Amino acid sequence: MTDPAALRRRMVDDLTTGGFLEPGWREAFLAVPRHAFIPDLVWQEQRRDLVPFHRADDPSRWLRLAYASRQVMITQVDDGHPVGPGLIGDCISSSASQPNVVALMLAALGAQPGMRVCEIGTGTGYNAALLAQRLGADHVTSIEVDPEVATRARAALARTGFGAVLVITGDGAHGYPPRAPFDRVLATAAVQRVPYAWVAQTRPGGRVVTPWGTAYLNGALLSLTVGEEGTATGRLVDNVAFMWLRDQRIPLTWVRDCVYDEDNAAVSTTDLHPARVTDDYHAALAIGILVPDCEYRYCQARDDSGEYTVWFLDPNSRSWASLDYLPGADTHEVNQLGPRRLWDEVEAAYRWWVRAGSPTAERWHFTVTPQCQEIYLDQEISLDSPGGAIDLHGGNAPRGGVVLHDASGGAAGKHHPAFEVRAEQLVLAHLDARPVAQADRLITIGHTGIAEEGD
Ligand SMILES: C[S@@+](CC[C@H](N)C(=O)[O-])C[C@H]1O[C@@H](n2cnc3c(N)ncnc32)[C@H](O)[C@@H]1O
Repeated sequence: MTDPAALRRRMVDDLTTGGFLEPGWREAFLAVPRHAFIPDLVWQEQRRDLVPFHRADDPSRWLRLAYASRQVMITQVDDGHPVGPGLIGDCISSSASQPNVVALMLAALGAQPGMRVCEIGTGTGYNAALLAQRLGADHVTSIEVDPEVATRARAALARTGFGAVLVITGDGAHGYPPRAPFDRVLATAAVQRVPYAWVAQTRPGGRVVTPWGTAYLNGALLSLTVGEEGTATGRLVDNVAFMWLRDQRIPLTWVRDCVYDEDNAAVSTTDLHPARVTDDYHAALAIGILVPDCEYRYCQARDDSGEYTVWFLDPNSRSWASLDYLPGADTHEVNQLGPRRLWDEVEAAYRWWVRAGSPTAERWHFTVTPQCQEIYLDQEISLDSPGGAIDLHGGNAPRGGVVLHDASGGAAGKHHPAFEVRAEQLVLAHLDARPVAQADRLITIGHTGIAEEGD
């Protein structure tokens, strides 16, 4: 099949059958020609490489890919300067997201005809065109940080009749005050910390929808509703993975670049199976919240032994840990080096999550204020009980500057004695002896849960 309209109908049918497409968006998906937004040169993932694929090499395949409902089209690598020979790339820097993800994000956005929307991350312009088709092109503002990508999107929007969409070249983290307030802000790049400008530029009752994640897990879809007092609250509503907003990027860390001095690592054992801290989405989400700036990598043995190692890495503090898995073994060897004991932190976070009743993603609540981003659970967790607090204390003070302090005591006027002890331990575990005000990040532990504050 090489007729774009027929391929488009099939894509829309797929999205409908898959439950991704809200009825209100069906006409827009049928009307907007996705292939008109995809550049002739795209990249495809082949093992660790991003390999170029030109439309001229196989036009009908290129077209089928453009209309595959679960196909991401990589449209730029390495910020436009592929690092490998023959245009082979290392990192995806722009793409047209999978149509099913586009559809589920638009459903979460809840935008209705006539509303004014600001999109962060124009990319190809396809999503902006869908918004324009349904809401009116002059109701859509889209911000793209990469000038070449923005220029290409403007041209595609003009060619397809959506030239009235305002595409701004700039840092979307600042929003676009001249057109605020918006009814909706939709980010199509992931954040660890929600930029407050998005909340400030959304009208009360409006919504901010953004992919969100941590170094440990990318990611989730966060939906926030803005309140009268300029604070937004919300929760995670889906499971999506996106490239990071440019100034919140987490550089790809290779094991070989982060692991050093293996002979001097502290050796211990654990009975915790590594799959428990990596394979369960909800556990990984909690670990990512509780153990900041920690990535993991999985390395399978080259033979058929079934052995593998999971590496935990924090390049900033030069800390690493490894967990060796041997099939059938009840205990696993742990090696750790650096100012942070990353495995101890991950294991403590996992055990806390289990004791807290294995809370699922939607149980984490988010509040974004001008001062901070708080994340907390929707249940009271007693800090007196063995499962109540996470104890990361081990005398290991990293240089990350993660600081913990009492969130609930001051504001609510009720201090929790057990909490204070725990909080002190947590501070000892994470604080590089700097005052709170100088910390890079602030994690607050209240007796209703755990909260994190941005810079
Ligand atoms: C997944 S793509 C967007 C897909 C797009 N919505 C579409 O329909 O094709 C993410 C885009 O966000 C852009 N981006 C990253 N950081 C940004 C920032 N701080 N401000 C604006 N755009 C940004 C990237 O350059 C990239 O083009």
